[in-house]
Amino acid sequence: MSRTFETVGVVGLGTMGAGIAEVFARAGLAVVGVEVDAQALERGRGHVLRSTDRAVSRGRLSEAGRDEILGRIAFTGSLDDLRDADLVIEAIPEVMEYKRALFTDLDLVCKPEAVLATNTSSLSVTAIASFTARPGQVVGMHFFNPAPVMRLVEVVRTVATAGGVAEDVAELARRVGKTPVTVGDRAGFVVNRLLLGYLNHAASLLELGVASRDDIDAAMRLGAGLPMGPFALLDLIGLDVSHEVCEVLFEESRDRVHAPAPILRELVTAGLLGRKSGRGFHAHE
Ligand code: CAA
Repeated sequence: MSRTFETVGVVGLGTMGAGIAEVFARAGLAVVGVEVDAQALERGRGHVLRSTDRAVSRGRLSEAGRDEILGRIAFTGSLDDLRDADLVIEAIPEVMEYKRALFTDLDLVCKPEAVLATNTSSLSVTAIASFTARPGQVVGMHFFNPAPVMRLVEVVRTVATAGGVAEDVAELARRVGKTPVTVGDRAGFVVNRLLLGYLNHAASLLELGVASRDDIDAAMRLGAGLPMGPFALLDLIGLDVSHEVCEVLFEESRDRVHAPAPILRELVTAGLLGRKSGRGFHAHE
């Protein structure tokens, strides 16, 4: 019999986690959103508010609808509040030691039948599963930025994933309005493996002086029909995340399209991370 997911937990309410919490709440699920402290919780709530306010101002959502969405998300600083969750998705920073600590705790707190998912874009889901006593119920559930808008979810199954779990999580993705694709646990899965090679190549072209930032962005928007040029997209993803994904991809593939362009590292070192820090390749207000 397939699982039903009615209450979901989201741990980490940064750009991705808050967007994911909104997606579940919009679909009518009860959401428990967990952050480390009151300030981070307020920031997470702010992300959801801004996103839903934008939908209200565009006439896509009523004010009552927005309040209902917010009302379905319980914001908390305690992992203990995840004890009744049917599925918990982790969206904390991409540091394996943090994931180890969190998944060890989740395994203790969550009910035995709960599915534990990770939104990681660069780390091994298999390794994360191994931190728990329930590796059969651990999968990747990889959303794309901005989560409320992008329609894909990569469902990552590992060699340890039990039969039916990836299928049930794919069904959950459909229920919240996304299209799932199921992928194996290889660095970058499908989208990042293809996308980051291209984005990294764009950064190399810029460094080589082949064309200016704005001309490369315009070329790919107008010539290839993409919604954003590569530098606008790198800034949206975050240069720290992009650099990290390239490093992991290069380590596994040894394909030099993934060897991070030096300018990426330079910008990350300078703290110029893209939209989230106010400046990356472009300046953002
Ligand atoms: N949160 C919520 N909603 C948002 C949003 C956000 N951050 N940004 C835009 N939207 C909504 C807008 O409200 C608008 O909704 P309606 O159509 O209902 O009015 C819609 O998205 C379109 O937005 P805009 O008109 O403001 O702008 P746009 O048409 O230029 O679209 C975009 C913005 C959706 C970001 C579009 O440019 C796009 O699709 N860009 C590519 C994004 C992409 O490739 N993301 C994947 C990155 S890879 C990744 O995330 C994986 C990883 O692990 C690194």
